[in-house]
Amino acid sequence: MSRRRLGVLISGRGSNLAALIDTAAAADYPAEIAVVVSNNPDAPGLERARAAGIEGVVVNHRGHARREDFEALLHTALTAHRVELICLAGFMRLLTPSFFDLWSGRIINIHPSLLPAFKGLDTHARALDAGVRVAGCTAHYVVPEMDEGPIIAQAAVAVAPDDDAESLAARVLAAEHRLYPHAVRLIASGRARLVDGRIERDGDGAPPPVLFNPPLEG
Ligand code: GRF
Repeated sequence: MSRRRLGVLISGRGSNLAALIDTAAAADYPAEIAVVVSNNPDAPGLERARAAGIEGVVVNHRGHARREDFEALLHTALTAHRVELICLAGFMRLLTPSFFDLWSGRIINIHPSLLPAFKGLDTHARALDAGVRVAGCTAHYVVPEMDEGPIIAQAAVAVAPDDDAESLAARVLAAEHRLYPHAVRLIASGRARLVDGRIERDGDGAPPPVLFNPPLEG
């Protein structure tokens, strides 16, 4: 089985990267991490990559007058490792339309909300302010507009009455660590595909039951 070559882009902690590393260790996983690229030389995720024997490359966004110059180096690092699919995992730089032209239909992301609700940062505090009963996370293709793009998979997380942003973030993050490797598996295996701006998925079992919050009684 040939495995799809992933380039994982990070800026910080790298817990989603770690989840991908762990999952991709299985021989039958349809993708492998070819390279990890960080725009931040101090990203703890780089150490996670090294510990797993994966090359970590720093492409620092600082020191480039034009964003295109930074992206040219990014592109070179990715193509040098024959990357086929870019996985953003806590990558905190916005990419330009010309970079998207080069990687059209080959960039995915994990976002800590049920998109299209709560795009951007501080998703958990805003979800709690809005009083939602169900929060969650989304794996999606990336397009130039921030946190838009075809949705590959989502996980719903019930909000507890005593949740604060930190406790909710922790439970959503645990769901992210299961969702992102699952979404990558679907894409890398070809079981889910981007067709005309939407995701087509082979029928592979019934979805799990409805999540009610508060729970149903009786
Ligand atoms: C995650 O919450 C992810 O959804 C968001 O940035 C965070 C990255 O965390 N895009 P980590 O670096 O993977 O731990």
